[in-house]
Amino acid sequence: MSQPAFSTRLSHIARRFDETIATVNLPVYRASTVLFDSLAAATQAGHDASAAVGALHASSYGTAGTPTTYALMDALAELEGAGAACRAALMPSGLAAISTALLAFLKPGDHLLMSDSVYGPARMFALGMLKRLGVETTFFVPDADVAAVAALIRPSTRALYLESPGSYTFEIQDVPALAALARSRGIVSMIDNAWASPVFSRPFEWGVDLSILPLTKYWSGHSDVLMGAVVAREEHWPTLWGAVRAMGMCVGGDDAFLILRGLRTVEVRMHRHQETALEVAGWLAECPEVERVLHPALPSHPGHALWRRDFSGSSGLFSFELDPALFAAPGGGQESAGSSSSPGALDPERVARGLAALCERRRHFGIGYSWGGYESLIMPAGISSLRGVAPWTGGPLLRLHCGLEDPADLIADLEDGLAALTIALAD
Ligand SMILES: Cc1ncc(COP(=O)(O)O)c(C=O)c1O
Repeated sequence: MSQPAFSTRLSHIARRFDETIATVNLPVYRASTVLFDSLAAATQAGHDASAAVGALHASSYGTAGTPTTYALMDALAELEGAGAACRAALMPSGLAAISTALLAFLKPGDHLLMSDSVYGPARMFALGMLKRLGVETTFFVPDADVAAVAALIRPSTRALYLESPGSYTFEIQDVPALAALARSRGIVSMIDNAWASPVFSRPFEWGVDLSILPLTKYWSGHSDVLMGAVVAREEHWPTLWGAVRAMGMCVGGDDAFLILRGLRTVEVRMHRHQETALEVAGWLAECPEVERVLHPALPSHPGHALWRRDFSGSSGLFSFELDPALFAAPGGGQESAGSSSSPGALDPERVARGLAALCERRRHFGIGYSWGGYESLIMPAGISSLRGVAPWTGGPLLRLHCGLEDPADLIADLEDGLAALTIALAD
């Protein structure tokens, strides 16, 4: 019998644990203490739930899991694993999933290779906590070719950390080639699979060892819960689970239930996010105030060919760059909006004034740091401190998350914003 389609599996996965009553959804277990009928049973459960054994569904205590969290773990392993033998562990946020994955596989003296356009706090974790623990990180140009990354490998390199597309600048990486390189050198590869997950990308088919899922974003879809997961190939599970248990990483049943609820509709939502974002991106690309739209599904994007090869769709998140000439100090010799301009020094006061006019008081776009929910968001990308080997040298960059509103309303909102920006910068 053929495997049911992804949308069918989303509807039917993780629905049966307790056979006593056939509700559509699972019950929520809220638990710290687990009770046992005998000392022998308690001892056995403690052994099974230990990091060394790494057994699934063996709870001696709430931090090891409950039927609600196990249901979500199994669902994530199956959906994200896409046929590969995988297991999933839950963490209280996407960032906790990132830091746990890195801590699990790195020790003092090890070397980490990390893409330059990773999520900012992941970079800060490498430069702060990991450095303090004696792990050295080398950042590489996000869309560097495999030979350039291979040249950075040292005998002590233990992990390769990827994010494709990159945060804010949306570079696409040749993940299959990079994962193969890592494998051939005995390096564990991990990817932050936030952007297209879980519908439009398949990291385990690309060959990575660990996929990090900020469930807070699209899996939840409603901006009302924080959670992350690391999905690992079976061979890496004991190392990962050991770190999870040692650090007490766990989530509550109510939050796990919210992610299970979100995943039922994720495929439908992702298609709508995709369509809307493409419409808005296409409109922005024609605006004279806009220098460039950074969206991998646009043919103008430098990583478009790789995106077409590896992804089956795109999400609601992309960036656009404003024409730097608009932000040059008066008399600074820059050309006008819409002309081809070379980026010079931007006047910080003009940038602040223009961005405030564009972003504030929008009807439909909220100002917020997250994304992946049903609501649209706009946020200037303060990336100057978030890049090392691939510094941003263009005009002001803004990130948009296109939610589930009607695209015409979103475009009208941005049209008003760009008009307000032009007025604010007119003097
Ligand atoms: C690419 C990416 N990865 C990870 C995270 C972290 O997820 P969380 O907010 O659940 O910590 C974020 C949050 O914005 C993100 O954008």
